[in-house]
Amino acid sequence: MKKLTILLSALAVMACAKPVPQEFHVIPMPAQVEITDGAFCVKGVQISVDPAMDELSQKAIGRFVEALETATGVKTRSGEKGICFTVNPDLAPEAYCIDIKADGASVQASALNGFLYACETLKQMLPAAIYGNKAVKADWALPLAHIEDQPRFTYRGMHLDPCRHFFTIEETKRYLDVMAAYKLNRFHWHLTEDQGWRMEVKAYPKLTEIGAWRDGTVIKKDWDSNDGIRHGGFYTQEEMKEIVNYAAERGITVIPEIDLPGHMVAALAAYPNLGCTGGPYKVWSRWGVAPDILCAGNEDVYTFLETILTELIDIFPSEYIHIGGDEAFNEEMGIPWDHCPKCAAKMQQLGIKKGPMAKHYLQNYVTARIQDFLNQHGRKIIGWDEVLEGNLAPGATVMSWRGVKGGIEAANKGFDVVMTPNSYLYFDYYQSKERDKEPFAIGGYLPVENVYAYEPYTGLTPNAQKHILGVQANLWTEYVATPEHLEYMLLPRMCALSEIQWCAADKKDFARFDASLDHSFEIFDAMGVNYCLDVRGLIGLDRQPARTPEELEEYLKENPRSW
Ligand code: ACM
Ligand code: ZN
Repeated sequence: MKKLTILLSALAVMACAKPVPQEFHVIPMPAQVEITDGAFCVKGVQISVDPAMDELSQKAIGRFVEALETATGVKTRSGEKGICFTVNPDLAPEAYCIDIKADGASVQASALNGFLYACETLKQMLPAAIYGNKAVKADWALPLAHIEDQPRFTYRGMHLDPCRHFFTIEETKRYLDVMAAYKLNRFHWHLTEDQGWRMEVKAYPKLTEIGAWRDGTVIKKDWDSNDGIRHGGFYTQEEMKEIVNYAAERGITVIPEIDLPGHMVAALAAYPNLGCTGGPYKVWSRWGVAPDILCAGNEDVYTFLETILTELIDIFPSEYIHIGGDEAFNEEMGIPWDHCPKCAAKMQQLGIKKGPMAKHYLQNYVTARIQDFLNQHGRKIIGWDEVLEGNLAPGATVMSWRGVKGGIEAANKGFDVVMTPNSYLYFDYYQSKERDKEPFAIGGYLPVENVYAYEPYTGLTPNAQKHILGVQANLWTEYVATPEHLEYMLLPRMCALSEIQWCAADKKDFARFDASLDHSFEIFDAMGVNYCLDVRGLIGLDRQPARTPEELEEYLKENPRSW
């Protein structure tokens, strides 16, 4: 038996006789990397897993091994002479260490995320076919290397709006897979909007019976138009739990958002008594800031919100719950709070004087009530930067989206902050200057190099910097209706985001990153995900013309997704 093992090992090494090129194209770039000449063959490699390791980490390594076996076409064996995964309690939860020598590799981490990130680094060091689902002839060898790595920020987020256009659970899982490949760890799931309510709420079934569907959608920016096509969908509580678990296995915490008191027209269409006028309301079919919002003076509104949040926190174990707070007021179309007897009575009761700040103080009251409720249930709130206007109660975290100003102000006031400035991190913007060659987008111009240039500490004192939990990009989907288009908007910009989130400022280098992107493009091809190639002078969808649904189905048959 021993002889056979030696023979098999020798055969495996011979199968990798060609030295691999000493290139390193891992994104995000690890903190410390030393590469030396030589290679370690992983075809049919032995794998050993520390028995002290927790179940989810073992499962993560299992997925890595499965990918290796599929792509190489050769089964691995258990044994200590290959890649050894060991628990090292001295490492931070998201840190890992990889040591690859000619006769074997050691991978150490203390917890799930460390092991996940070590596996992702190993995968990116191998031929991109490891992300595919078929056996491929390639140099299945790792360069000899010593890597020590851990992230700069603890909050490394990516947002998705499944309300303006609905994305299925399977499509959401693909999104999470792409995030996991680049070591992101927070998924901000924007579940409610004027144009569609996406969360099943058992106590308020009309939210999904009525609120999840709109009669049609405005065509581009022709504001009076409507395509007449019913659009919608929602996630059952079981499906949302499935996403929570799927994400957790990939080291990602799902942060759900119930946007309040604005962006609530879909809920008002279902329960019109919750608005200041009593309606009737229709699930909105156009984009922008809707004038109708929740009535702040109606106690039924607080019962409604607390009931929803009670169901929500049963599904989502995240420390943070996002309570929205953005764009509550459409000044041009009128603010219902200004004409509502219930809101007037509430303002009087709170001692809020008439004037331009009154609406902000009333919003502060709504935010504080929801914050108290969630705090009593052991959770913390995050709100868009509008929550800062007036008096925000301590303990809230602010998500800075209207540029960096709100984040800087919040950090200076001692609030924790997640930076998501639209000037750098709104992935619904165009990526090319030649707009007519890109799919129609909301506006703006945000190529991958502009994303990469963002430095989250700019404008912050060392004390205020301590309040920056991390960085997130947002992907709103007013003009993004298919998973293919979603991926096009996401990639490769999310790769640039991953370096902002992961790498120390002095480790960032656009030329190095840009040179590594070609390997990521191969990875996306292997995964079957779409991406934008403007960064290589290929504009818009020219390279991969937008497919008809039939063509897409055919394409997916030939290039099945790897997850
Ligand atoms: C936002 O983009 N309205 C947060
Ligand atoms: Zn009111």
